[in-house]
Amino acid sequence: MIYLIGFMGSGKTTVGKILHQKLHKKYTDTDLYVEQMTGQTISQIFAKAGEKGFRTYESLALQRITSGVVSTGGGIVEIPDNTACMKSNGIVVFLKASLQTIEGRLQDDQTRPLWNQSVTQRKDLFSRRERLYEEAADIVVETDDKTATEITEEILFKLENRKKLHCR
Ligand code: S3P
Repeated sequence: MIYLIGFMGSGKTTVGKILHQKLHKKYTDTDLYVEQMTGQTISQIFAKAGEKGFRTYESLALQRITSGVVSTGGGIVEIPDNTACMKSNGIVVFLKASLQTIEGRLQDDQTRPLWNQSVTQRKDLFSRRERLYEEAADIVVETDDKTATEITEEILFKLENRKKLHCR
C-alpha cells in the first residue's frame, strides 16, 4: 500500500488520483471514506463530535482500508497508532509543501475546520505537524513549484529506487 501524508492543501488528493492510475491500484481518500461512512461532511462531524470524534472515525477508516493508494487527511499523524499502522502496512510518502504555498492554495477554503483558525494557530499547527510527517515518512517529496504530474513521477522514481535498495 502507498499512503500519502502531508498538510492540508499539500496535493495528496490530486497526486493520489494520478498515482493510482499509473500503478493500476485502487484509490481511497480517508476524508471521503469518513464522509461516506458517517453520512456527514467533515465540517458537520467537527461541529457535532469535535476533533476527537473526527479522529476516531478517521482511525477506523484507516484500519478498514486495506489496499491500494491512500490519500490521508492532514491530521492522520496526530494519532501514533495511525502512523504505526501505515508504516507496517505500506510505504508512507510525505508531500512536503511550504506554509506559503499552502496559504496560497487554501486562501478561501471553508471546508477545513482546522484551517479556519488564527494565523498564529495555523503556523503552530504547521510546524508541529511537519515533525510528525518527517518522522512517519519513508519517502519525502518537496512539492513547491512542481506540477502534480511531476510530483507523481518523482514518487514513482523514489519507489523504484527503494525497491532496488531493498532487493540488493
Ligand atoms: C485535517 C485535514 C483534512 C481533514 C480534516 C482535518 C487536519 O484533510 O481530514 O479537516 O487535521 O489537518 P486534508 O488534509 O485532505 O485537507
